[in-house]
Amino acid sequence: MKEYVLITGASSGIGYDLACIFGENNYNLILVARNEKKLNDIKRKLSNKLKVDIRAFQCDLAYSEDIENLYSKILHENLKVKYLINNAGCGSFGKFDNIDIKTDLNLIDVNVRSITHMMKLFIPVIRKTSNGGVLNIASTAAFSPGPYMSVYYACKAYVINITEALREEFKEDNIKICVLCPGPTNTNFQVNAKVTKNSKVKPILMESRKVAEIAYRGFMKNKGVIIPGYNNKILVTLSKLLPNKFLCKVIKRANSN
Ligand SMILES: NC(=O)c1ccc[n+]([C@@H]2O[C@H](COP(=O)([O-])OP(=O)(O)OC[C@H]3O[C@@H](n4cnc5c(N)ncnc54)[C@H](OP(=O)(O)O)[C@@H]3O)[C@@H](O)[C@H]2O)c1
Repeated sequence: MKEYVLITGASSGIGYDLACIFGENNYNLILVARNEKKLNDIKRKLSNKLKVDIRAFQCDLAYSEDIENLYSKILHENLKVKYLINNAGCGSFGKFDNIDIKTDLNLIDVNVRSITHMMKLFIPVIRKTSNGGVLNIASTAAFSPGPYMSVYYACKAYVINITEALREEFKEDNIKICVLCPGPTNTNFQVNAKVTKNSKVKPILMESRKVAEIAYRGFMKNKGVIIPGYNNKILVTLSKLLPNKFLCKVIKRANSN
């Protein structure tokens, strides 16, 4: 049975570049996102340049039923998942009471609930492969509270904490469980999250291909926490050293007019 890398949010940004890199390294791909047309266009494009098997599954990760359906289809088609990349994510921006409930609950469903659900379903599958693994995508936002992106920052803290806990739990099971913490990256994310203050992050914006290359290398070396770029490493170090009260003031100012 062929082995596959399952990548959520593979139709754009970091997920797309991760799909390209795993494909270039001869891994078969399972691409997941909501927009079926975009997904199939990418499947065609990658199939033309890569010599690997590529499957595409439409799935809205905000819905448990969609995740269960995705799992059933993958089992039904006998696709053996060796690596799970929980990359799909979304953000929201603004003062807490100005963001509607639906947006923030959807954010929690996609960024927190779905990765938990996906790991519950796929870790038992991955355990049957040799040296399989999970790569979760958090953010440098995971290391501090984030005024005006409060729900997003809190969700990413969950992602890093669950990853590090599971990494320890599965240490003896031959599964690598790693987390990527990108800083501001040039993708559709900022536009989709309606981030209006991105002029401040422009100087430190990384290209998603570069972030994905660092992620791939780090994951293959089984590095627990992967932070791409020197600026982001410095940011994370400072976030760990400085008190949250101070960080809140700085981030609030950065996210304000
Ligand atoms: N860009 C940044 O500055 C940055 C910084 C730190 C961390 N990150 C994290 O990096 C990850 C990738 O983000 P990106 O920057 O590459 O963003 P992106 O370009 O907006 O890509 C997001 C991907 O997730 C998919 N997606 C969104 N909601 C989904 C849902 N409900 N169900 C299934 N798929 C869904 C999107 O496809 P569909 O719309 O077709 O579903 C798309 O393929 C996210 O977890 C994000 O939080 C990004």
